[in-house]
Amino acid sequence: MKKINELYRGKAKTVHTTEDPNLLILEFRNDTSALDGERIEQFDRKGMINNKFNHFIMTKLSEAGIKTQLVSMISDTESLVKKLDMVPVECVIRNRAAGSLVRRLGVEEGIALSPPLFDLFLKNDALHDPMVNESYCETFGWVNQENLAQMKTISYKVNEILSELFKQAGLILVDFKLEFGLFDGEVVLGDEFSPDGCRLWDVETLEKMDKDRFRQHLGGVIEAYEAVAKRLGVEL
Ligand code: C5P
Repeated sequence: MKKINELYRGKAKTVHTTEDPNLLILEFRNDTSALDGERIEQFDRKGMINNKFNHFIMTKLSEAGIKTQLVSMISDTESLVKKLDMVPVECVIRNRAAGSLVRRLGVEEGIALSPPLFDLFLKNDALHDPMVNESYCETFGWVNQENLAQMKTISYKVNEILSELFKQAGLILVDFKLEFGLFDGEVVLGDEFSPDGCRLWDVETLEKMDKDRFRQHLGGVIEAYEAVAKRLGVEL
């Protein structure tokens, strides 16, 4: 499958059309952004690592019965995916307090959240992805209540599967973001799952091994991504 046109250039990925109107190519770039795209840096190998990481995770989820957008990995930095009608709302699950939750509520970083929290954010860089809730989704028509309920159920299921997977690799899945879309009217998991969109801490040392290394200027960004991939058994 060949790329035809650039459909959309995101902060870390570019989406291309193909000769099949139902299929797209996701190209994972080396760009890493923070502050809604105000700060961007390139990291060698990041596109390749995230593409392979995403393929590994999406395959695990698919084996567990979750419908995903992924069709196949077609090169080191590209994957073929189903074209979804994307829901403009991000779903976040939090097992431990970190990031915006700590800033918003002033709770201590790392405290366990039981049951895990489910947050919704509108995808809008200009507005800095404001937090929204179920009734906003209905009122503004971003996603209907039935599909939103499915997104929530799937998010919690992903949390169960991946918390266990990361636990076996000596990592705590602190939180993560998912995006969904519709394919033939059905809710399907889209976008990517990589250390760019989740928080992973070493279970012993609580060392951060995700994009917070970039956000917080901790250094060793790619080294951490590679270490996580290696622990999971992702072939790079
Ligand atoms: O910033 P916040 O603490 O709300 O992020 C929660 C989780 O969602 C983190 O794992 C973060 O990496 C992810 N996230 C993301 N894309 C965004 C916002 C958050 O991947 N636009």
